[in-house]
Amino acid sequence: MIDNSTLVLFGARGNLAKVKLIPGLFHLDQAGKLPKNMKILSVGRQKVDESAWHSSIKSMLDEKFKSYDKNVFERFIKRNLYHANLPDDPEAFVKFAKRLKNKDIFPQNLAFFLSVRPSDFALIVKQLSEVSLLDESEFWKRVLIEKPFGTCLKSAIELQTSIEKHLKENQIYRIDHYLGKFSLQNILTTRFKNAILEPLWSNEHIEQIQITNHETLGVGDRTVFYEATGALRDMIQSHLLQMLALVTMEQPKTMSPEDVRLEKIKLLESIQAIPLDKIKNFAFRGQYAAGKLNGEKVKGYLEEVENQDSVVETYAAIKLFINNSRWKKVPIYLRTAKRLYENATSISIKFKNYENWLTINIQPSENTSFEITTLQPGLDMNEFRQTALKGNNRIEGDETIDAYETLMLDLLSGDQSKFLHIDEVKAAWKLVDPIINYWSNNKSKPTQYKPGEFDPEESKIIFENDDQFWKK
Ligand code: BG6
Repeated sequence: MIDNSTLVLFGARGNLAKVKLIPGLFHLDQAGKLPKNMKILSVGRQKVDESAWHSSIKSMLDEKFKSYDKNVFERFIKRNLYHANLPDDPEAFVKFAKRLKNKDIFPQNLAFFLSVRPSDFALIVKQLSEVSLLDESEFWKRVLIEKPFGTCLKSAIELQTSIEKHLKENQIYRIDHYLGKFSLQNILTTRFKNAILEPLWSNEHIEQIQITNHETLGVGDRTVFYEATGALRDMIQSHLLQMLALVTMEQPKTMSPEDVRLEKIKLLESIQAIPLDKIKNFAFRGQYAAGKLNGEKVKGYLEEVENQDSVVETYAAIKLFINNSRWKKVPIYLRTAKRLYENATSISIKFKNYENWLTINIQPSENTSFEITTLQPGLDMNEFRQTALKGNNRIEGDETIDAYETLMLDLLSGDQSKFLHIDEVKAAWKLVDPIINYWSNNKSKPTQYKPGEFDPEESKIIFENDDQFWKK
């Protein structure tokens, strides 16, 4: 049940709002998920009159959907209002609050979605608090903070210190959009609702785990962001570590947000720090060179960022160990890359002493596949082959809900289980910070790799054994 509420979208003229948030809200409206009188107040820096804003919304929907119901569209447009506001102008916030506190127009349960520059997160929270928009004495107030929450442990703590002056933990929704993906949520179901997996889920039977995210795209026009970020921060600190937590955490007592997050925190805090004196065997970085991808010429990373000295990685692979009795000594490999041969996110689990792999494909395919060894038909009784037992986790006719839709619904209904607790954020920064620092101080060049190919050969240096390989 969702309370009647107002969703306030800061950064409403940005790309995320255009591509995901506004179309996502429309989709939710169409599905009858939004409360009847709910309002959406979009906030941007520029002045835009309401009718122009409504036309922009129409173009966003036209771009996203082939067709849509006219009545739903009318209803949706009526919910949508626009307000121009500069984040650093206290006067503007006084006016903003005056408008928003008008009960005749806006339901007073307020959810603020901050899809703005990370440097504005703390400032906006402070401004909202100063005009009493975060006061919960009568109605709830929630703030959703986009990624990244800090750029290192220190800055994450600073951001937290600054916002917790105005917000309690149960008002803060730190997003990791991967947690809104159905296929990630399905990991816990696969693990805990099937008799065959739990007894095998430990170092007694599992040799290694690989968590993979490959993309064919390069950094595109996000060069400034990427130069300040790199693959380790961009993907491993957030999405890949969350996948790792879901695959390896203990079963929560209940599926309540508190219990689920508690187990994830415990798991993330029990990952061993990477030994910096052996970093070469634990962390590898690469950069895509110029070349061809799907027949098209593509620029190399250094060319794109116009900085031949950049050591920022577009490929990162690390090896981690979890320091608990279930996972001791099981290497967990995490890898992420731009401009590789395919777009694919998956989790592969290799069983000890046998050629059995269990792979949970997250995207674009959504399936679970278990490879078993079988006898190859023929005269030779010593010829074997691998056969995949594959089950689709999505079949034709299933609903497709974008991660952001799920997360916006959770924000409105007050469910924090798919959002990050501050302790998860801190544990993740604690793990990656030392590697990032080591890499940025070490000016040796990242390995150059060709676009459209498999993982660079050199990345195999992090494997525990020579017979290990990257699972395709
Ligand atoms: C974002 C990263 O968080 O996730 C991007 O900043 C990356 O670099 C993206 O491409 C991947 O998300 P998805 O949902 O397309 O797999």
